[in-house]
Amino acid sequence: MKPTPISENIYCLSIHDRRTRLFEGLWPIEKEGITYNSYLIRDEKTVLIDLCKELFQQEYLGELKALVDPASIDYLVVNHMEPDHSGALRAFRELAPQAVILGTPKAVKMMDDFFGLKENIRAVSDGEELELGRHKLRFVSAPMVHWPETMVTYETVSQTLFSCDAFGGYGIPEKGIFDEEYPDLAYFEGESLRYYANIVAAFSKPVLNAGEKLAGVPLRMVAPSHGLVWRKDPGRIVDLYMRWSSYGKGPAEKGVTLLHGSMYGNTEKMVASVKNGLEAAGVPVDAHDVTTTPVSYILPSIWKNQGVVIGAPTYEGTLFPTMQLVLYMAEIKRAFNKQAIYFGSYGWGGGAVRFLKNQFEKMNWELGETLEFAGQAREENLKEAYEMGKRFGKLILEG
Ligand SMILES: Cc1cc2nc3c(=O)[nH]c(=O)nc-3n(C[C@H](O)[C@H](O)[C@H](O)COP(=O)(O)O)c2cc1C
Ligand SMILES: [Fe+2]
Ligand SMILES: [Fe+2]
Repeated sequence: MKPTPISENIYCLSIHDRRTRLFEGLWPIEKEGITYNSYLIRDEKTVLIDLCKELFQQEYLGELKALVDPASIDYLVVNHMEPDHSGALRAFRELAPQAVILGTPKAVKMMDDFFGLKENIRAVSDGEELELGRHKLRFVSAPMVHWPETMVTYETVSQTLFSCDAFGGYGIPEKGIFDEEYPDLAYFEGESLRYYANIVAAFSKPVLNAGEKLAGVPLRMVAPSHGLVWRKDPGRIVDLYMRWSSYGKGPAEKGVTLLHGSMYGNTEKMVASVKNGLEAAGVPVDAHDVTTTPVSYILPSIWKNQGVVIGAPTYEGTLFPTMQLVLYMAEIKRAFNKQAIYFGSYGWGGGAVRFLKNQFEKMNWELGETLEFAGQAREENLKEAYEMGKRFGKLILEG
């Protein structure tokens, strides 16, 4: 995409990645795509902030050269060393050996570890400022959002926060880079939550710490390195991220994620009854078949809802493995402090509930009612399932 001016003498260079099938090799983005946003500030000193993934470095450097002679760039600010932003570092270094590369002390070590770069690199300290002429940058360390070396960069004149991964999201803003170009932001907010739940969620406490550090800093623009530039309402994405981070210690929203998976349809037959019961209680329900929905799309739902219903059979004396995987991902993303119920079919001895008890201890999830049945669900089981759903729905709403 052609560079877009976002403020006087500040440009966004946004690479539209429609080629990566799985972000981080894990998260499907084939439909949605992702952008890598880099920013250029022209002043008495010329500064570039973050780069892009190596796969796109030729396209990126071509755009950069059309805007500025790389040999005239004074500084490159590296907010984050994950290769989706730093991948073009070596190619950039060849074009701009004069540019001083700036990052936190931990980022400086990583520049050597990942790229063998040692020369003309300077570590910046938390709160350090850099005069560019009319503009001024302030570097604010934000460790563990979501790597140890991360920082954000604030420009004091335009009051822009270059936040890298923080406040980012999946999705390609085709019509333009700014929030104001989309009367309905639901799609981008949904993709920001999915990105949050996939990438950032495990580090909710550090996100809250970074938010506290930035409280009181006037923000006219939030310019992340994935997705939209928030110019009309920069507070909106900050508030959303802060709210999502608060769910890390709970409570989350009064809603229920209904997860189900089945081999031969016995457990599946119960799903509609449980769902009807939940809906009769008036609680919002978000249902996912774990055998067909990638976990990337399930995690945001678990993250934001206080209640989780697990419907899956016993398999080899334990819980149906696809469901185990979903719960394992929720555990490593630190989706803690939920309330859950269980239903499922077994053939002879069961075992799914034993797994859940053990797993929920690790996540501090409270296991409420469980409804197990041998073989197929009978009429009475379906009625019980409805009532159990209704009771759980009420419990979550009353929370
Ligand atoms: C590969 C496989 C392993 C199973 N392991 C167990 C088991 O260890 N204990 C048990 O009680 N039932 C076991 N079952 C039986 C299932 O729990 C039972 O068939 C159940 O009705 C399946 O529910 P579904 O139709 O929702 O997939 C197993 C079934 C399969 C196909
Ligand atoms: Fe990252
Ligand atoms: Fe990133």
